[in-house]
Amino acid sequence: MSNQNLNLSLKKFNTFGIDVSAKNIIYLTELKQLDHISNLKDCFIIGGGSNILLTKSINKPVIINQTKGICTVNEDENYIELAVASGENWHEFVMYCIQKGYGGIENMSLIPGSVGAAPMQNIGAYGREIKDVLTYVSAVNIETKEIKKFTNPECEFGYRESIFKKSLKGKYFVSDIGVRLTKKNHQLNTSYGDIEKWLNDNLIKVPTIQDVSNAVIAIRKSKLPDPSDLGNSGSFFKNPVIPLSQFNGLLEKFPTIKSYPVNDKEVKVPAGWLIESLGWKGKRVGNTGAHKKQALVLVNYGNATGSEVKKLAEDIKRSVWDTYQIQLETEVNII
Ligand code: EPU
Repeated sequence: MSNQNLNLSLKKFNTFGIDVSAKNIIYLTELKQLDHISNLKDCFIIGGGSNILLTKSINKPVIINQTKGICTVNEDENYIELAVASGENWHEFVMYCIQKGYGGIENMSLIPGSVGAAPMQNIGAYGREIKDVLTYVSAVNIETKEIKKFTNPECEFGYRESIFKKSLKGKYFVSDIGVRLTKKNHQLNTSYGDIEKWLNDNLIKVPTIQDVSNAVIAIRKSKLPDPSDLGNSGSFFKNPVIPLSQFNGLLEKFPTIKSYPVNDKEVKVPAGWLIESLGWKGKRVGNTGAHKKQALVLVNYGNATGSEVKKLAEDIKRSVWDTYQIQLETEVNII
């Protein structure tokens, strides 16, 4: 019996490495297993577990999505469309594409998590988002078990946003997604300073998709902690978008504040900069803290509870609000 209890720990199924238990665990390796789960809507589904902070035990059956498979839907001499099962690991899928010579997702190398979770929050890095290549999301309605295919516009993608995080939150289980990738004439995006610098430093003048992926992997490894060494969920907060007028006011008081253009009325401010400016970077509070190389990433030094991390996040939010009157929003789902 005690062994069974040990096996109910969700520690290895969330990249934060928070040790809470589940009522029971169902390993989903094939979609048709869903037919036998009568209370699907009462289950809690975990994909890669890379975007959740568990603050309490899950008093429900937990489904661990381990469905696998990559197949070709369409292909011509220029493009290939692949259907990918939601339980595939995102980074392994990116590596598969690079090895085959398919371009479009190389900038999203090394993002932790599963393929099914990728459209949920429209994952992105270094100027590319999944919405740029996604053709459809197939998902099972957890009430009726009917499968619905969402087109790209139907997913209502935004910055780290989709319909699956808003009006359809908790209503669908993503079963597979379609992505359309280039087979030749790849449209590389090397505009991010860090990527350009890495390519220059490595004397690469005409980069391939493999080079861009290598650059991204090197940059991410240099700043972002590997969840297998130090539990984390990547960026804990979104980069806030604020009115240009507010930004100009802040710029007078804080001349080194950074921003990226959004439109003529708004700018995006790097949350990492705001958090670092208030002294949180590298600061350890009990078993948790803001990472020493990237203040936007909160980490678990080993035995942190979800509530400890949540408390740190609240303290950081409050301090950013008190100084800048900017409301940080969490990117991670707090359960
Ligand atoms: N910055 C600081 N201090 C820090 C961290 C960042 O001052 O501790 C400043 C940097 O100097 C830089 C700016 O903030 O000028 C941006 O930093 P960085 O390039 O590291 O990117 P980010 O805006 O912090 C976003 C994504 C990352 C993604 C990178 C690269 C969000 C919330 N995060 O981070 O995504 O990898 O850009 O494209 O949009 C994730 O979502 O989990 C994630 C890691």
